[in-house]
Amino acid sequence: MKIELIQLDKDNYTEALPIRNENVKYFFDSHPIGVLEHEIWFETRYHPQKNINQSYFFYLIKTDDGTVGTIAVDTNSYWHIMKNVCVLRKYRGKGIMTKAIDMLMKKHPSKDWGE
Ligand SMILES: CC(C)(COP(=O)(O)OP(=O)(O)OC[C@H]1O[C@@H](n2cnc3c(N)ncnc32)[C@H](O)[C@@H]1OP(=O)(O)O)[C@@H](O)C(=O)NCCC(=O)NCCS
Repeated sequence: MKIELIQLDKDNYTEALPIRNENVKYFFDSHPIGVLEHEIWFETRYHPQKNINQSYFFYLIKTDDGTVGTIAVDTNSYWHIMKNVCVLRKYRGKGIMTKAIDMLMKKHPSKDWGE
């Protein structure tokens, strides 16, 4: 199965919302996110074009079936921390996250990792 990591941007950020909401119980802040709240988060906290010193990289996991998961990395001078590690229920157990983590670590190499 073809798997790609596509960085979140203004044209695709809404695709992360259903994945977050299906997996909401796995987040510390476990309330379902509305469309407006998601837009505000993107515009004020994430937007790659506005955030010049970006240290948080958020990716959609895409397969031939479209967006099936998310994965993000929060970086600082000492380590990388993986976040938003989610695959839609229907697509679990097919090796998608194993491949996505491998791809993420290649994109952001040579640091210690945590989750
Ligand atoms: C955890 C999750 C991301 C795994 O994604 P996936 O694409 O199904 O994972 P893979 O198919 O690549 O499986 C990777 C390995 O993890 C194991 N695994 C998957 N889910 C697991 C779980 N809930 N508990 C224990 N092991 C699990 C698999 O058996 C596999 O092991 P193997 O290689 O020895 O066979 C997915 O189940 C998910 O989105 N869960 C809900 C959110 C979550 O728990 N996120 C992680 C922490 S916040």
